[in-house]
Amino acid sequence: MKKSKASATIIRPKAKKPRVVLGVTASIAAFRAADLASALSKAGVDVDVILTREACRFITPLTFAALTHRQVVTDANEGVLDARPMHITLADDADLVIVAPATANLIGEYAHGLAPEVLTCILLATLAPVVVAPAMNGKMWLHPATQANVELLKKRGVEFIGPEKGLLACGYEGIGRLWPVADIARQVLAKFGISSEKK
Ligand SMILES: Cc1cc2nc3c(=O)[nH]c(=O)nc-3n(C[C@H](O)[C@H](O)[C@H](O)COP(=O)(O)O)c2cc1C
Repeated sequence: MKKSKASATIIRPKAKKPRVVLGVTASIAAFRAADLASALSKAGVDVDVILTREACRFITPLTFAALTHRQVVTDANEGVLDARPMHITLADDADLVIVAPATANLIGEYAHGLAPEVLTCILLATLAPVVVAPAMNGKMWLHPATQANVELLKKRGVEFIGPEKGLLACGYEGIGRLWPVADIARQVLAKFGISSEKK
């Protein structure tokens, strides 16, 4: 598929199910990605979930495997798929890559072209549109380093959803909360012409 901005509608053959890579990183909001995976899967999307090493401390691959009925890829089980390294196959086959929740660390790695994990390898290898939904403490979000990384990624065509303001798990009130999952799902599904009401 030709590289395009994440905001564009994704055109694909009607018979084929959309394929979305869902990257989950080590935020306290990682558990909310389970609802996102479930919503996308129930709406008819093939969801390939990728967990970072640290994300596995917050939520297990088993949860996502049960919700998506697909293998979940982590650094512990990455191997070869269809004669290519899994990260290349997943990057090539994705119609959209979304990272939700995205940590400050993941955003920094992606902005600077670092690829220490399966997820970051996919982000660098894919030509599919990429959507990032950050979640972090407000001071981390507003730090000039994070903001510069976000701007860099936006300039490269990466779409950001959120974060929103509210009471944060760290005890602070402010910006940094993961955008409501139902709305993230709605925005992703809309890119494939799927209405969330059909779920
Ligand atoms: C309890 C706890 C909650 C955390 N929540 C967040 C978070 O919401 N956002 C964030 O950017 N980092 C958060 N961190 C820090 C990340 O887990 C840490 O930077 C980690 O190395 C990120 O790994 P990853 O980006 O490879 O998934 C948290 C750490 C702990 C221990």
